Parts: sequence; structure tokens; C-alpha cells
Amino acid sequence: MAREVPNYTIRPMKREEIPDVLQLWRETGLAEGTYSLDTWFAHDPDGFYVAVTDDGMVLGSCAGVLQNDDLAFIGLYVVKSAYRRHGIGRKIWNAVMKRVGDRNAGVNPVPEQLENYRDRSGFPVQTSWCSIVSHTKSMDMSLFTANDLDINLQRLILEDNDTLNEVICYDADVCGFSRGNLVPLLCSQKDSVTMVAIKTDSNEICGYGNIRKNIKNGAIVGPLYADSAEIAEKILYELVKAFPIGEIEGIMMMAIDCNLPAMKMMDKLGFQTVEGIARLYRDEEVHVKYEKVFSQHSLNFSIF
Ligand SMILES: CC(C)(COP(=O)(O)OP(=O)(O)OC[C@H]1O[C@@H](n2cnc3c(N)ncnc32)[C@H](O)[C@@H]1OP(=O)(O)O)[C@@H](O)C(=O)NCCC(=O)NCCS
Repeated sequence: MAREVPNYTIRPMKREEIPDVLQLWRETGLAEGTYSLDTWFAHDPDGFYVAVTDDGMVLGSCAGVLQNDDLAFIGLYVVKSAYRRHGIGRKIWNAVMKRVGDRNAGVNPVPEQLENYRDRSGFPVQTSWCSIVSHTKSMDMSLFTANDLDINLQRLILEDNDTLNEVICYDADVCGFSRGNLVPLLCSQKDSVTMVAIKTDSNEICGYGNIRKNIKNGAIVGPLYADSAEIAEKILYELVKAFPIGEIEGIMMMAIDCNLPAMKMMDKLGFQTVEGIARLYRDEEVHVKYEKVFSQHSLNFSIF
């Protein structure tokens, strides 16, 4: 039920407001990692805006996280249901876009908002591919068959500087730009495990992935970047073994439908498609090594 709107201010989010914003996001029924906001806030503390009442209640939020100097990603856009359609959302959105400035930006609209963002908010470039959100209620480990690969899987830890730097390079090769501070933040994120795949003969990194607790229930996997579907499957297997909540309570993944081996892998492993999410950009599409993306890092904060 709509209520009278109390006095509020639009301003950058403070770290201590993360639990309130996460609670607001939880009310949408959409997924997110239990500590993802902490990670992305640490990555770009100026990228989060909130509407807050004079007595400190968070009415809404939106994030425009910088991916690099020229590119932002818009997400976490939500207003408390009782206060929607009073102009609060647009005001937070405008504050975020002011901070984003002239940069290119991407957004993953929920289907109801696609036309709004594309036709009325200056995100006219729609890609030919969609993100496919898929889910398993529980993970049947007997479906994994990629066993005889010459790769080693190990947990990525902050203390292992050499491997960490190689993973940062691998990530940069997939995305086209370096996320040197994000990868260490990811691998030290609470409620999560990051695994890296290394070729036994050459010691080269051939993929890495993260599994974390979902605010809904179960786990989310992403990023899952790999040189092939077999390697992605092996990383996923080891992630689930290291973080068994996914096996018991289910897993969500965010592949892209232009990566056909990823689609086949999801199907083989018993994932059901929940929905397809369009991708919009302000200026131009950002091309990455789509063939290496088996699950995106975050639909709220990450370009891939
Ligand atoms: C989307 C949402 C944040 C808008 O907040 P709000 O405070 O209700 O929005 P406003 O009152 O400022 O805007 C009113 C209208 O402008 C639209 N609008 C809001 N933000 C917009 C934007 N950035 N671009 C274009 N249109 C927008 C709204 O959809 C609404 O349209 P309608 O009257 O046809 O329904 C809110 O509806 C919400 O929390 N939805 C659930 C979470 C969600 O789906 N988030 C989007 C994820 S991509």
C-alpha cells in the first residue's frame, strides 16, 4: 500500500547502510551474494547512492559502479515497495547518472524495465544476445563427466601472490581491461570460495570461478570464466565440492546465450532457465571474450 513519503535526501551510500540496502534488494525477490555489496562497494565506494529519510530509513538505492575509467555498470536499482511511483527512483537514478558522467554504461534491465531504460533513459544500444539466468534446485554431482583433463584445481587465496596476479591477467584477457583490485576482493569475500584451474604441463591459468551464498537461498556461481566448457565444468564441480551448500540448496548461474557450449553445459548439468535478461548500453556494446564466459560475475555490478 502506498504511503505518504517522509522527507528524504539522495546521497552516496555509507558502508554501514549495506545491510539495509541488501534487505531492500532482498524484498525484490532477485538474487545477489550475501557479501557482494561489500565487495563492489570496496571496489568503487563512490558508486552507490541511496534515498534516506531524516531518521535514517533507506527508501531506495541505485549503483553505478565504475568498471574502468571509461565504463560504468548500473544496478541495484530499487525503491521500497510502499514508496514507489513518487519520483524517488528517478532521483536516485539521476544522481548515479550524474556521477557516471559521459562514460559508456551497461545495464541488465528486468523485463518490465527494458523499454523504460532503452527508449526513455538513454540506453539505446541493445545487444543481440541475452543473459540467461538458470537454476538447479539441487546439484546432481553424477552429471559431471569432465574428469580426465590435465589441469590442477586449487583454491585461490590472497597470500598466493603469484597465482593471484596470473588470475588478474586471465580476468583482464577475458574482459579486455584489468580489474586488479576486484579479483583480490572477490577471493577474500566472506561466504564464498574462489577456485583457479591451472594446466599441469605449462602451469598456465585456464579458468577461474567463484561460488557464494545467495541471499535467496543456495548459491550463486560467477564469475566462471574458462578456456573451454570442459574446464568450466571441472571448475564448477570443484566449487560445489568446496562449498556444498550449492549441492544441497541449489545454484544460480548467469551465462550468455551467444556462448553455445555454456548453454549446452547448463542443460547437461540439469539447470533450468529462469529468465532471459537483455543487455543495454548507453554508447556502444562492450565486446569481451564471450566464448570464455560461462557465468557472469554479477548482474547488478559487473559488465561480465
Ligand atoms: C524500478 C523502480 C526502482 C522505480 O522506482 P520508483 O520510485 O517507483 O520510480 P519513479 O516513481 O521515480 O518513476 C515512476 C515511473 O518512471 C519509471 N522509471 C523509473 N526509473 C526509470 C528510469 N531510470 N528510466 C526510465 N523510466 C523509469 C518507472 O517505471 C515508473 O513508470 P510507470 O509509472 O510507467 O510505472 C521501482 O519500481 C522498483 O523498486 N522496482 C522493483 C525492483 C526492480 O525491478 N528494479 C529494476 C531492476 S533493473
